[in-house]
Amino acid sequence: MNIFCFVYVVFYIILLHIKNSSSVFDFGKQIGESYSNSDASLDSVQLLQKYNYTAETHIVITSDGYRLTVYRVPRKGPPVLLVHGIGDSSDCWLVLGPKYSLAYQLADAGYDVWLLNSRGNRYSKGHIRNLPPKLYWDFSYEEMGLQDLPATIDHILFNRGLSKLIYIGFSQGTTELFVMCSMRPEYNAKIEHAILLAPVAGLQHIQYPFIKFWSRNLNIVMSLTEKIELYEAFPSNENLNKFHNTVCRLNSLYKIICELEYYKNFGLPRLTNLVPEKLPILTAHVPSGTSAKVFFHFIQGYSTQKFQRFDYGKRKNQELYSSPIPPEYDVSRMNVPLTIFASEVDWYSTNKDVAKLLSKLKTVENYVFLNKSVGFTHLEFVYGSRVNSIINRPVLSILKKITKL
Ligand SMILES: *[C@@H]1O[C@H](CO)[C@@H](O)[C@H](O)[C@H]1NC(C)=O
Ligand SMILES: *[C@@H]1O[C@H](CO)[C@@H](O)[C@H](O)[C@H]1NC(C)=O
Repeated sequence: MNIFCFVYVVFYIILLHIKNSSSVFDFGKQIGESYSNSDASLDSVQLLQKYNYTAETHIVITSDGYRLTVYRVPRKGPPVLLVHGIGDSSDCWLVLGPKYSLAYQLADAGYDVWLLNSRGNRYSKGHIRNLPPKLYWDFSYEEMGLQDLPATIDHILFNRGLSKLIYIGFSQGTTELFVMCSMRPEYNAKIEHAILLAPVAGLQHIQYPFIKFWSRNLNIVMSLTEKIELYEAFPSNENLNKFHNTVCRLNSLYKIICELEYYKNFGLPRLTNLVPEKLPILTAHVPSGTSAKVFFHFIQGYSTQKFQRFDYGKRKNQELYSSPIPPEYDVSRMNVPLTIFASEVDWYSTNKDVAKLLSKLKTVENYVFLNKSVGFTHLEFVYGSRVNSIINRPVLSILKKITKL
């Protein structure tokens, strides 16, 4: 197991460091559409334009100076803000095209669709000052919840002259909402309803098979990355995108590489659980980059079994928090009306963690539990071949009831 893990990590590091050399990715003749002739190479705006949806680009500046790119498909209906998962981007709501992806379907139903890109991903790399990398990348999901969300929500509400919007978050997109609503509770009132897909608040019972390895070695990994100044994790990389686009095809001779990657990281039992004809396209859009600190913070959630602020060690904690141990996020301060979708076999949004959340949240209006026999894994909430029947249609009908659109 560990040798396998090691080989895999080395393989990945090599992949991430090869720049502009396409020969490595020459895995023989591709069957089907090539990278450059398909949606695989299109960014969020290009995808929207290709499918004839108007795309607006909004730049939102947070109070700590980060420049976020928020995409919008303008409509007259109620605004809906969609927030992606860890290391992902607005692409996750678009890559499957109008037949499967939620953003188009919301726009078709008349909702004003806004797609956030969290600080540090491929679309949101700017800052009003020219910060050195060490300072720029010094953020976790806490800053996304405390800065990115409020700035974006205020921007949308100001733009529309409204006092509330609808929020849809996937995975880390729910973590950020928990952080915001517990630490800046005045923002609860700005959300009419939130739909939480695979909610994550701390990852205490995460099923990812290598979590013990990462947890045990976290301090070593943290000081090592500091030493080699590796602050960004899983940046968007065109060569890696091309590589995924080649091996993640059902008819590829090398699809075992893709299968292993998606099984090992996400518990995906078979590639056909993701929309098969879109597989080379969606895999060519992940990852999109985030800070290494985001991962460290999530791993701490497992190590400490708590959903709490970043642990800097006793001395710095005392300085920052006036306490040697980091304070917990108090999710019971959340009073946004909620719909929760969770699955029994999800490695990240686990039964035990969701049960704990449910015991603290007082405003859950709908809870959709997908049992073991449905076998719905983490990525399927946005990329799954059954996403229309299990997620999109129920989401649209819940929103219709709430907004009467
Ligand atoms: C977009 O609109 C153009 C012009 O009306 C049309 O030719 C094209 O087929 C449309 N594309 C899609 C994906 O609907
Ligand atoms: C699991 O969910 C399916 C689909 O909703 C349902 O038909 C089935 O009865 C459930 N099984 C159990 C054991 O609850």
